[in-house]
Amino acid sequence: MARNGKVTVVGAGFYGSTTALRLAEYDIFETVVLTDIVEGKPEGIALDINQSRSIEGFETKVIGQTTTADGKGYEAISGSDVVVITAGLPRKPGMSRMDLIGVNAGIVRGVAENVAKHAPNAVVIVVSNPLDEMTALAQIATKFPHNRVMGQAGMLDTARFTHFVAEKLGVEVSRVATLTLGSHGETMVPVPSRCTVDGKPLSSMLSASDIAELVDRTRNGGAEIVALLKTGSAYYAPSAAAARMAKAVIEDSGAVMPVCAWVTGQYGISDVYLGVEAEIGRSGVKKVVETALDGAELDALKVAAEAVRSKQADVKDL
Ligand code: NAI
Ligand code: 2OP
Repeated sequence: MARNGKVTVVGAGFYGSTTALRLAEYDIFETVVLTDIVEGKPEGIALDINQSRSIEGFETKVIGQTTTADGKGYEAISGSDVVVITAGLPRKPGMSRMDLIGVNAGIVRGVAENVAKHAPNAVVIVVSNPLDEMTALAQIATKFPHNRVMGQAGMLDTARFTHFVAEKLGVEVSRVATLTLGSHGETMVPVPSRCTVDGKPLSSMLSASDIAELVDRTRNGGAEIVALLKTGSAYYAPSAAAARMAKAVIEDSGAVMPVCAWVTGQYGISDVYLGVEAEIGRSGVKKVVETALDGAELDALKVAAEAVRSKQADVKDL
C-alpha cells in the first residue's frame, strides 16, 4: 500500500497523542511526527504507538521529538505537509475557552513561528483554545495564506450534535446528519434546518423545544465533558475531527467539512475566521461552501462573526 506525506502534531497531551495515534492507524502517511516541550514525552508516546503497529496492522512510523521554546528540535518537522497544533492548556471546570487566551496565545505564536520556519509549505490545522482566536493568531504568526491555516471545531461540534440527536431518537448515528457553524464558543450556531434523519427534516420528528434542548446541549458539549472529567477536556471526538481534516488534506479529497476558515464574502461576512463548511484538500481550504440557512440561523451566524472579529482583532498584540 502506498503511503505518502508527513504530518506533524505539536503538543503530545491528550489531544495530540490521540490525534497522532489516529493518524498513524489510518496507515496512509509515511511519517507522523509528535512534538512537545516536556522532555521525553513525545519520544515515549511515539515508541509506544510504534510498538502497537504489529498488533493493529499499520506501517506508518511515528517520530517523537522534544522541542524547546527557542526552536530546538523543530528540524524534525521539516517537510511536513500538514501540521496540527494542539499545544496549549485545556480548560478546568468553570473556565470558559476564552479564559485560556493569554497563556495559549504565547504558546501558539511561538509554535506557529517555528512551523513557518521549518515547514513553510504545510497546511496548518489549529485546535488550541480559544479556537477561533488561536486560528487567527496562527495565520498572523506564520504569515501563511489564509487558505493554508484553518481551525478544528465544527467537525467536533457537529459530531456532538449528531450523537445527541441519535440518542434522543434511539437511531444509529449513520442515519443522522447535522451541522454546526459559527464560533467554537458561546456564539456557536447549530443549524437545525440542515438536520435530517434518513433524509427527513428533524423538525418532522422532534418538537421545537426538544430541538432547542439538543442545540443547547451541543453548544455546551465541551463544558459538559470538562465538568465530568474535572481535569482536562475532551479528546477522543476532538482528535477524530482533527485527524479527518488532516486526512482530507493529504488525500486532496475535496471533502466538505465544517471548519474554522477565513471567509471572504460568504453569507455577507468578510475577513474573519469563522465556522463554515469548506472543501478541504492539499491547498487547505479550497473553497468555502455556503449552505441555505433560515433567517434566525443567518442572523446568529452574523452575530458570531462580529463576536469573534473583535477578539481576533486583539490577538495580533498577544
Ligand atoms: P493537555 O494539557 O493534555 O496537552 C497540552 C500539551 O501541550 C502538553 O503536553 C504540553 O506540554 C504541550 N505544550 C505546551 N506548550 C507547548 C509548546 N510550546 N510546544 C509544544 N507543546 C507544548 O491538553 P489537551 O487536552 O491535549 O488540549 C490541548 C488544547 O486543545 C487545549 O488548548 C484545549 O483547550 C484544546 N482543545 C480544543 C478542542 C477543539 O475542538 N478545538 C477540543 C478539545 C481541546
Ligand atoms: C471541547 O469542545 C474544550 O474545546 C474543547 O471539548
